[in-house]
Amino acid sequence: MTLIEPHGGTLVNRLKGNWEEASASIELDAMALSDLELIATGAYSPIEGFLTKEDYQSVVERMRLADGTPWSIPITLPVGRDQAERLNSGEVAELYKDETVYGLIEIEEIYQPDKEQEAKQVYLTSDYEHPGVKKLFDRPDFYVAGKIQLLQRPQREHEEKFYLDPAETRALFKESGWKRVVGFQTRNPVHRAHEYIQKAALETVDGLFLNPLVGETKSDDIPSDVRMESYQVLLKNYYPKGRVTLAVFNAAMRYAGPREAIFHALVRKNFGCTHFIVGRDHAGVGDYYGTYDAQKIFSNFEPEELGITPLFFEHSFYCLACEGMASHKTCPHDDDQHVILSGTKVRELLRNGEKPPKTFSRPEVVEILINGLNSQNTVKQGQEG
Ligand code: ADX
Repeated sequence: MTLIEPHGGTLVNRLKGNWEEASASIELDAMALSDLELIATGAYSPIEGFLTKEDYQSVVERMRLADGTPWSIPITLPVGRDQAERLNSGEVAELYKDETVYGLIEIEEIYQPDKEQEAKQVYLTSDYEHPGVKKLFDRPDFYVAGKIQLLQRPQREHEEKFYLDPAETRALFKESGWKRVVGFQTRNPVHRAHEYIQKAALETVDGLFLNPLVGETKSDDIPSDVRMESYQVLLKNYYPKGRVTLAVFNAAMRYAGPREAIFHALVRKNFGCTHFIVGRDHAGVGDYYGTYDAQKIFSNFEPEELGITPLFFEHSFYCLACEGMASHKTCPHDDDQHVILSGTKVRELLRNGEKPPKTFSRPEVVEILINGLNSQNTVKQGQEG
């Protein structure tokens, strides 16, 4: 059985190497550390390091690496001006965070990006209120480019068994005999609408790769440890054994909507998925993107250059008249029959210990979310007091 090819043809592996001693050191932020590991394990194949100016410019302007391979999100290593002036191309720098050295970079060049342009092209806005744009502008102003090597895995925040490299998921899918695997990205608990589109997809493929993003997210998103617990209880109670693989996606959330949907799909292809779910406002935030913009963007590429097949889903909801999950594609009833709660509304309910209806979220999931959020509030209050 042959699996889907990694993006660019070869699964990148930069986990080992024997480079000479580093002559400089660069501090990583949380986003860069997660990117370092994901580059090294091949999740970002064909990227082998932080982008050179040529690749960066090309990704920003035309959603492709300089050689034409589709790639939609710039993967960059920012440093401040002082440091940028001290670093030299050709030298090896160690990459550290909190006194631990995680990797090395062979510096190819150091350049100053046009962040205003990056914001407008990648995020489609330069509004500082947008969490991805804020992050972009808050990071230092120069980018260091070059191939990397991972020396040390970042500390795990979840159970070790949920950390699977692309080589491992690929082996697992093969072993399970899954020819067609659908990937699912999420930064939220899995509510009924998510479950519905996952299962609708699963009806036509062999396996589901539930791959929640657990890297940096904005502060009001539900914390990943609470989410991980909620995914497990959901799988235990409502999904058949042997049809789902749950593993974390340790990247930072960019909130780049359409551009991030392409990125999310390409990464899941590297994990071995043949299909990828894109529903309503994928990776969106606030009102920055149209409901289906993250689906429309796929038409900028030929299907064969992406390789992975996107599965598009309409906005889904529970319909009281149908007595089941549906979307406007499958339900004829008026909107007042539809149970639709915004993410903000649900978080507000949960934080107040109120339960969203069964038609919105499974009771077992709700219980975990309420308990999880309460204990976090207690911890916070304890710290504040
Ligand atoms: S995301 O930022 O990771 O995209 P979220 O976890 O809410 O956010 O969404 C995960 C996936 O489910 C995305 O593909 C999104 O488009 C889809 N989705 C979320 N809610 C719905 C819904 N009510 N109907 C259809 N698709 C949805």
